[in-house]
Parts: sequence; C-alpha cells; structure tokens
Amino acid sequence: MQLPPQQVAVLEASSADEPRRIADLAAETERPPETVTGAAFELADAGLVDVVEETQEDVELTDEGREYAEDGLPEVRLYEAALELGADDTPVSMGEVIGASGLDGPQVDIALSNYARKGYGDIDGGDLAADSDADPDEDAEAAALESLAAGGSVEDADALDQLERRDLVAVRERTVRSVLLTDAGVTELMAGVEAADEVGQLTPEMLTSGEWRDAAFADYNVEADAGEYQPGKVHVLRQAAERVKEVLIGMGFQEMAGPHVDADFYINDCLFMPQDHPARNHWDRFALSEPEQIDDLPADLVDRVERAHREGVGQDGDGYHSPWDEDFARALALRGHTTSLTARYLSGVAGEDVEPPARYFSVEKAYRNDTLDATHLLEFFQIEGWVMADDLSVRDLMGTFREFYSQFGITDLEFKPTYNPYTEPSFELFGRHPETGELIEIGNSGIFRPEMLEPLGVEADVMAWGLALERLLMLVTGFEDIRDVHGTLCDLEFLRDAEVVY
Ligand code: PHE
Repeated sequence: MQLPPQQVAVLEASSADEPRRIADLAAETERPPETVTGAAFELADAGLVDVVEETQEDVELTDEGREYAEDGLPEVRLYEAALELGADDTPVSMGEVIGASGLDGPQVDIALSNYARKGYGDIDGGDLAADSDADPDEDAEAAALESLAAGGSVEDADALDQLERRDLVAVRERTVRSVLLTDAGVTELMAGVEAADEVGQLTPEMLTSGEWRDAAFADYNVEADAGEYQPGKVHVLRQAAERVKEVLIGMGFQEMAGPHVDADFYINDCLFMPQDHPARNHWDRFALSEPEQIDDLPADLVDRVERAHREGVGQDGDGYHSPWDEDFARALALRGHTTSLTARYLSGVAGEDVEPPARYFSVEKAYRNDTLDATHLLEFFQIEGWVMADDLSVRDLMGTFREFYSQFGITDLEFKPTYNPYTEPSFELFGRHPETGELIEIGNSGIFRPEMLEPLGVEADVMAWGLALERLLMLVTGFEDIRDVHGTLCDLEFLRDAEVVY
C-alpha cells in the first residue's frame, strides 16, 4: 500500500503493544509534532492506528511560588522567627516576631493568615504563640513547592489545591495524544507500505514550472494541533470602545469630536462650575504652559456664561457671588472630562446645529491628576452622552442606562443621588463586579440645570452622563485592576486572550 511519507514514518514508528506519544514519535521521525498529529489522524481515519487522548495537568510555579520556594513560605518564616524568640514558651508581641522574620508588605498578612490555619500556633490580642509540636519539615505545602521547584511532581492533591488557591502555582490542562497500531495497521505493515509522492505545500516554483498539474496533494487535516500565533491585535479596551460606539449608534446617537486640550471655559465654566470649585485647582488638572491660554472665545457666549455665574438665570435665579475672571476661563488644560465636548456641541461652537430631539455621544480620553490605584488612572476613556428633548425625566435617564448596559449583559444597576454643579437631579451609577461581588461606580449622570443650558442657548431638556469605559470592561471581563489593561504593569496574557464578546 502507498501512503504519504509522513504517514509511513508514523506507522513504522508506532507499536501495537504500547501507545506512543506524539512527542516521542515526532522526535523519532524527526518531524514537527503538528505533522505527526496530522498523519496520525489520517492513519486513524484509514483504520490503521488508534489515537488515544488523555488530559494531563501541567503544574508551574508562579513568580510568587518561586520566591517562596527559595526563601521559605511566609508562615514558616514567621514560625521560625517565633521559635528564635522563644514563643513556644511565652507568647511574644506580634510586631517583634514580624520584625525578626524579615517579612514585609503583603507577605505579613499572608504569613498571619496561614499561621494558625496550619497549626503553627495562635495569635491572640497582638501576641503570637508558637506550637512546639509543629514541624515545618512536615509542611505539605512547603514540600510540594520544593518538589516543583526541583522539577519534580506533586502527589498530594490537597497540598496542590492549597498552592493553587494561594496563586503559588498555575495548573494548566493539556491534551496528550498517543498512537497505537490496530490489527489492520499491523497487517498492512507486514504486507509492506511505501511512501507515495505527495506534496504538502504548493510552492512558487511548482506554479512556474507547471509541476503542480501532476502533483498529488496531501489533504488538509483541520483537527491537527497547530502552533500558537500571537499576532498584533486591537487592544481589548479599543475593542470595547468600538463595541460601545456601535451600541450607541444603534440607539440613535451621533458621535461628537473635539480637542483633548481645551479652555477651562468649555471644561468648567460652561458647566456652571464656579471658578473657586476645588476640582478647578491646579492639583487636579494637567494645565498647559505653552500655550497657556486659548486665543478666541465667542464674546456673546462668554457674556451669557459670566452672567449666569454672577446672577444665576431666571426670575429668582441666584449666582455664585464669587469672582469670575475671563482670563481664568481661557486657561488651557487636558480635559478632565469629555463634558467639554458636550458644552461645545450644546453651545453651537462645534458648528453643529443641534435641535431637539437629538442624541450625541463620544468615547474619548479624559485626564485627571488622580492618585494611581486599582480603580484610578491618570487617563481613562469616558463614555459621554446626552439626549436633548422636551420633558425629560429621571425615568428616561434610568431607562437609557438599562438599555445601554443590558447590551453588555449588565442588568443589576444601582443609582445613588449625588451632586454636580451642572445637573439636578444627579445620580451616580453602580454595577456589581462579577468576580469580587463588589458594587463599583461606573458613571455619573443627571439632568442639566437651567444655569448651564440657558447661557448655551438650549431651550429643551437635556439629560447627560459620563461613564467609565474601563469600569464597564471590568464588569464584562472580570479583571480587577485597571493597571492590568493600561501602562507598564499591564497583564499581557490578559490582553492577548481576553475576549470582548457580548
Ligand atoms: N462630567 C461628569 C464626570 O466626569 C459626568 C457627567 C456628565 C455627569 C454629564 C453628569 C452629566 O464624572
């Protein structure tokens, strides 16, 4: 019988007595594992071999696991320090033991939370006692770590579970395939198999020479294992932004565009933010020094905005009775929210003739001089939006959010009244994190006040919001630290593998 060369090689290297792994066959036939897998499936289709699959778990130490394998588990180090200080005799103050152990940062908490659990002793009223019967040499987790670090395996399933729960090891499942000759395979081998000339890949040379006309081509095997490719791809956050845009366009919104650096006038003054508002001081904003000020502001708009700040609007309106200075309004800064775009569109300076009913949005960057932590960055994507119509109410606002977030599978929204100088009423919006169960703030919203709308020349009602794209993505994908997706600490594996699917 004639078979393609790679199938002949696999058939000849296989045994009828014991299954042989693809990796071993690949080494022996000097062919890539993908080729061997492909050939094995072809042979299996022809009934000449069986392909046996089993799942294997690969256990790998994480960085933290590797660190503890070297320095010892934090609870063991705590116990050893406690023994040094005689805590098996009389309890010693926790601070002293921690100091002597050399543990610091999060390792202290890790040590304390595992200490009693593993029977190293008790912690009571700030004192730490050591149990003299405990023996770190019999610590199953430590032994498992050590064995893994030395390239060995772990039999103790409980210890392995604990290590996995503590994020000290990562367990990955993998399908391992083996090949076993069938009776038919043995018969064919004995009758004699020879390699047929089959072409695995079409080359430019074959095309130019015309050789392809007579060649026999190998079939594709779509079940063969393929190498993993990590090509460039659109960043998850960008994918989410695109999805948000599609959803909002589907809801009848039009997109706004405008400058990242803008005059304070559009970022704050047009929003009826008093010039002495704490968020307008230089600690919170990124001011520009070159140029320092915007060249032109529309004089009539400036007049109306200034009047609203000084006197309020309407018959019994009242202003802020605080200074208002046009120079201050001209100062340039990176926008702290994209509501500056809303101010530009509502006032008409964006060049768009906005008449009710109208709906606008943007998904753009905003910049704040915040302290970095798991939920705050110096820049983030804000989902800005507003609806202009006659007689809008809070129910319209809530209904719009319900509809928008439900497109992302988020249905348990909560609303909390809040204060904004430019909206009344105002609501913060919360959603529940799928992993931690915590309610996290995902946006801020409200109905614009007449003090804002009248100077901008708007007569209808306008409801508006600013939502955080990163927080929305947190709720959708379950990641917990915003620094996983932005900046130098980002989690490359997450960025490679996260799927933005709804
Ligand atoms: N500008 C607000 C923020 O950045 C969001 C917002 C926009 C609130 C419009 C109400 C109306 O948090």
